[in-house]
Amino acid sequence: MTVTATRSILRLINSTLRTNHFVGLQSKCYASTQTTDLKEILRELIPKEQKRIAAFKAEHKDTVIGQVTLDMVYGGMRDIKGLVYETSLLDSNEGIRFRGKTIQECQAQLPKAKGGEEPLPEGLFWLLVTSQIPTQEQVDWVTQEWNNRADIPQHVVTMLNNFPAQLHPMSQLSAAVTVLNLGSKFAKAYSDNVPKSKYWEYAYEDSMDLIAKLPTIAAIIYRNLYRDGTAVGAIDSKKDWSWNFATMLGYDNKSFVDLLRLYLTIHSDHEGGNVSAHTSHLVGSALSDPYLSFAAAMNGLAGPLHGLANQEVLIWITKLVEKIGETPTDEQIKQYVLDTLKTSVVPGFGHAVLRKTDPRYTCQRDFALKHLPNDNMFKIVSQLFKVVPAILGDIAKIKNPWPNVDAHSGVLLRYYGMKEMNFYTVLFGVSRALGVLAQMIWSRALGFPLERPKSETTDSLMAIVAAKKKTGANVSDRTKA
Ligand SMILES: CC(C)(COP(=O)(O)OP(=O)(O)OC[C@H]1O[C@@H](n2cnc3c(N)ncnc32)[C@H](O)[C@@H]1OP(=O)(O)O)[C@@H](O)C(=O)NCCC(=O)NCCS
Repeated sequence: MTVTATRSILRLINSTLRTNHFVGLQSKCYASTQTTDLKEILRELIPKEQKRIAAFKAEHKDTVIGQVTLDMVYGGMRDIKGLVYETSLLDSNEGIRFRGKTIQECQAQLPKAKGGEEPLPEGLFWLLVTSQIPTQEQVDWVTQEWNNRADIPQHVVTMLNNFPAQLHPMSQLSAAVTVLNLGSKFAKAYSDNVPKSKYWEYAYEDSMDLIAKLPTIAAIIYRNLYRDGTAVGAIDSKKDWSWNFATMLGYDNKSFVDLLRLYLTIHSDHEGGNVSAHTSHLVGSALSDPYLSFAAAMNGLAGPLHGLANQEVLIWITKLVEKIGETPTDEQIKQYVLDTLKTSVVPGFGHAVLRKTDPRYTCQRDFALKHLPNDNMFKIVSQLFKVVPAILGDIAKIKNPWPNVDAHSGVLLRYYGMKEMNFYTVLFGVSRALGVLAQMIWSRALGFPLERPKSETTDSLMAIVAAKKKTGANVSDRTKA
């Protein structure tokens, strides 16, 4: 196939996705404006979606949708289309779309808190689950549900209170979520032999419970480590999820609460192949309950090439300030970046899929321009935006020189007084729950099977290549096999 033909197909796919995105779910979702009960809506949507997918599979199951080359296999499976993940889709140039909506569209269309300017993460969750923009009443219903489910079992509190202060907050989060599975409704239903068609209902219950409890767990970790173990206080049932989270952490600044709403919205989902989403998808496919699956995802998010990068960025910028001061010149920044490249990656830049500036970066930059335009650290982030892409762009092996989401978040949190960088990935984790758990409900509803890709050894790959050569197949024929 020629490059031009491939491009035309890609253009066609993109425009189809934009115009018909989730048309199956949306066109049939008429009931959602009449009820505020998310589970009731799912009960209507699921059979329709099951039917739509069954018909699609029956008609097209033998259609070849991609090729696999040796390079892809050794290259961390980049670009291999091997997962179905419904809640979001990443375009390498445009960035993420949540159920077909860009971040800007979500900011404009999702309901906001009274007096707030950023979308409520409750609304984003509703969108991820149903593919529809919720009404204010529906978002209020989610808030209420989460507030009602927020209590933490005493054994989890005791465990958190007994962790050594040196234990990284992400390890604490993962451990706390793992032991929360004592109360898993999914695990109980499975051992009670509940029929497969009902799995999603228990995955839903666990997901709602877990999302509701995460801010309290995160706040206990924060206060134990950085606020002398002071109590997080009670949930205010009249306030939204982010307001309660900010308050439990000990922050009452109105703009910080709005930042948290934005932060928790944009970090939620980034299609299915990234380490945390893929991990939760994989572990969930073994019918491990949502707690175990999400805890596994958090262990992946804790890696420096994934979620931990937001902590790494601020550590790196702080060292820059220590070395060359708060108002460096572009030339000094350039030298600092070149020095960094001698020993490590430049944190906050590059991406496995994106090839342009991450829109999650751009919306955080817009927030900074509005709320903290004169902050010195923000100015350094802006200088890095100007200087780094040119440097990385000159290094042939780097596919994307542009900033990603992690390049900006730390500076915003720091501005409002959250200087404990080790904690940043926990915030990312709380947000990531919205995406991976929305998908998990659907994974169980659609009866996704155990994930089990085929692996090869280098010797077996060599044997495959040798056999192909012997039969005279050329490289491109081989990859189509
Ligand atoms: C995100 C990241 C892991 C993607 O990796 P990837 O898919 O392998 O990206 P590429 O294909 O462009 O990488 C090719 C090479 O360029 C390097 N590279 C990519 N981004 C780089 C960066 N920001 N600084 C220095 N080198 C970088 C890679 O390490 C790799 O080098 P290697 O072949 O010697 O191992 C990578 O860009 C990175 O490490 N960025 C910094 C960490 C970060 O911000 N992570 C958060 C991601 S949201």
